[in-house]
Order: sequence, then C-alpha cells, then structure tokens
Amino acid sequence: MHLTPREVDKLISFTTGEVARRRRASGLTPNHDEMSNGLSNPATFPPNRHMTEATIPMKAIVVTDQAVGTAGMTLVERPEPQAAINDVVVQVHASGFVPTELAWPSTWTDRLDRDRTPSIPGHELAGVVSALGYGTTGLSVGQRVFGLTDWSRDGTLAEYVAVEARNLAPLPGDLDFTVGASLPISGLAAWQGLFEHGRLQAGQSVLVHGAAGAVGSMVTQLAREVGAYVIGTGRAADRQTVLDFGAHVFVDLENDVLEDVGGVHLVFDVIGGDIGKRSAGLIRAGGTLVSIVGPPEARPADGLAVDFVVASDRAQLSQIVQRVRDGRLRTNIGNVSTLDDAVAAFNPTARRKGKTIIRVRP
Ligand SMILES: NC(=O)c1ccc[n+]([C@@H]2O[C@H](COP(=O)([O-])OP(=O)(O)OC[C@H]3O[C@@H](n4cnc5c(N)ncnc54)[C@H](OP(=O)(O)O)[C@@H]3O)[C@@H](O)[C@H]2O)c1
Repeated sequence: MHLTPREVDKLISFTTGEVARRRRASGLTPNHDEMSNGLSNPATFPPNRHMTEATIPMKAIVVTDQAVGTAGMTLVERPEPQAAINDVVVQVHASGFVPTELAWPSTWTDRLDRDRTPSIPGHELAGVVSALGYGTTGLSVGQRVFGLTDWSRDGTLAEYVAVEARNLAPLPGDLDFTVGASLPISGLAAWQGLFEHGRLQAGQSVLVHGAAGAVGSMVTQLAREVGAYVIGTGRAADRQTVLDFGAHVFVDLENDVLEDVGGVHLVFDVIGGDIGKRSAGLIRAGGTLVSIVGPPEARPADGLAVDFVVASDRAQLSQIVQRVRDGRLRTNIGNVSTLDDAVAAFNPTARRKGKTIIRVRP
C-alpha cells in the first residue's frame, strides 16, 4: 500500500494519540493516578453505553433529570469518548458551563429526538488534543486548543471530550487554560450578537443588560472597542464593575428608570422578562433588539428583534483570544473549582460574580 506524505503524517499522529490513550489506561501517566486517588467514592450510574474491557473510564459530571436543574448534576465514571470522523479527542484542562444548557432539548435528546441521558453538560473547553479521528485536518496531537462543543453531544465537564476539529481554535501558549475555557460562549455570544446580528457601527449607542456578567462584560468591552456609546445595566452593587469594563454610564435596574435611557441603536438582552419587554420600546428606528435568552416577548416598533444561540467559529475565537493576549479584552472569571467540587460550584448558596470555571486538570 502506498501512502502519500500527508497520509503518513496523519497515521503517525493518530497512532501517537492512541498510544497515549492506551498508556493512560494502563496507568503510565498522571491521569490514571488522579482517577484512582481523586475519585474515592464516585456515584455509580448505569451507563447507556456499556463499559467493556476496551473502554477506558474517566470522571465526568452527568445530568439525567431536566426538572431538577443543576441540583441533579452527579459526578460519575463514564467511558472515554472515541474520535469520530473529523473529530479530535481533547484532554480537558478547563471547562465552562451556562445553566440554560439544561433547558435546551439538545442536552436531553439527540438530533433524532432519542433520549441521550445520562448526558455530560458543559460545552466550553480549553485543553490538549490527545487523538485525531479519521479525516481530521488542521489540528495535531499535543496541540493546545479551546472552543465550543456540539450541543447535542456529550460535553466538557469531563476529563476527555470528542469534538469536531472545526469547532476549536489554537490556544496560544501564553494563555492559561482557565482563561481559554472562559471565552468561547461569552466571547462568541458577544461577538455574534454585536457584529453579526446587531450590525453595530462606530458612533452608535448600545444598551447592554447584565453588563457585569459573563456575557455582558464581553459585550461592553467589544462595543466600546469599536467606538460605540455603551450604557451598561445591572444591580446596584455592579455599578463600579460595569464602569470598569468600559461602559460610559451605568443604569441600576433596581433603582433607576430604564426608560430614562432614551433611544438606542442596539439592545443586547441577557435578562429577558419585563426588562426585555420594556427594552423593545427603547430601540430607535432601524435598530435591533438582540436577545440570548429566548425569543423577545416584545418587538421594536420600527426595528428588528433577533434571538440566537451562539455557534462555534474558529476565526472569531482567534479574534477574541488575540484581544485577550494584547490586553484589549478582560475575562470575567468568578470562581474556579475542581471537577470533584463542580456540583457544589454550580449550586452556590450565595450570589457569585463572573463565570464559574472548572479546572479539570490541575
Ligand atoms: N443564547 C445563547 O447562546 C447564550 C449564550 C450565553 C449565555 N446565555 C444566557 O444568557 C444569560 C446570561 O448569561 P451570563 O453567563 O452572562 O450570566 P451571568 O454571568 O449570571 O450574567 C448575568 C448578569 O445579569 C444580572 N441580572 C440578571 N437579572 C437581573 C435583573 N433582573 N436586574 C439586574 N441585573 C440582573 C446578573 O446579576 P445576578 O447574578 O445578581 O442575577 C448578572 O450580573 C443566561 O441566561 C445564559 O444562560 C445564552
């Protein structure tokens, strides 16, 4: 059989990944030590894909019951994923999660509407490629990556995840995995809401709800960078945080009158409900109400209303990470926990500021 140089490279990198996986399985790397030491009493769960001698167990958080939300998260052992065509397997170093995932059908059923529980939530990751699937191009075993995984597949609150290579971007060596995992959903939602759906231009005004939060803080910084006039909103305690992220003014949603803002070109809504409804009336003619919390309940009289779910985009991820490297964009990380403590971290008893990141590997 004659192989082209490219096919030989592919075979070598695939084999390297497989060897690494087998070495882990036989206890030759720290990964196995962590599993046996760190997970002293994992919850047992009947897997829907039976573990065989050939499968390698990994630690993961699963959900099985939509009604109980994050309280139903459980730390278990699941089989390590295999790379399908065009996939890579990533050894997850850090993982992010947004609670609305648990309200989306894709967390509970596959694309044919079949039950896929127990499913692993979390769709943001930063880590290292450990294996390549057949036909995968653009990434190599050992490469640092970050990105957003498919909503309908098992996610990133796990030691390993299989993800299509196109959903990932290289993570520069000078950026921490924790930072990388905090960027995909917040950064891409902000980018896509402002520039694709909202078509924001320099000199326009934007009302950013929840501007101290994970998405809102990214929206505030990116809007300011392109030369927009930024009005950030939030709770009274968030005033200084919002101004520090670059908003020109702050509106305290609990004490100020939202309508005093006047007309704006763009509203970026991360809150919805009554705030979303009242915001529709603030859109100037030709402006846009962008929502990431479901279809707006009210529409601008003479403008667009858009709701969207963030999608992965390698070029946009690269734009976002470059801004973090050169200091134009700050992440908004609140709490960093281990995978063993993730369930408690996602069920806090007190108000938490910023994004919770799970550091899966130390
Ligand atoms: N469609 C998508 O693709 C997409 C992508 C990302 C996120 N999301 C969703 O967007 C929402 C925001 O996400 P996030 O990660 O930015 O959350 P976050 O970090 O909790 O930020 C939300 C901010 O809004 C504030 N807030 C909420 N309700 C408020 C109210 N009534 N008055 C004043 N302030 C209020 C929050 O304060 P408190 O913490 O005090 O409530 C927080 O500072 C979530 O529902 C998330 O699931 C959707």
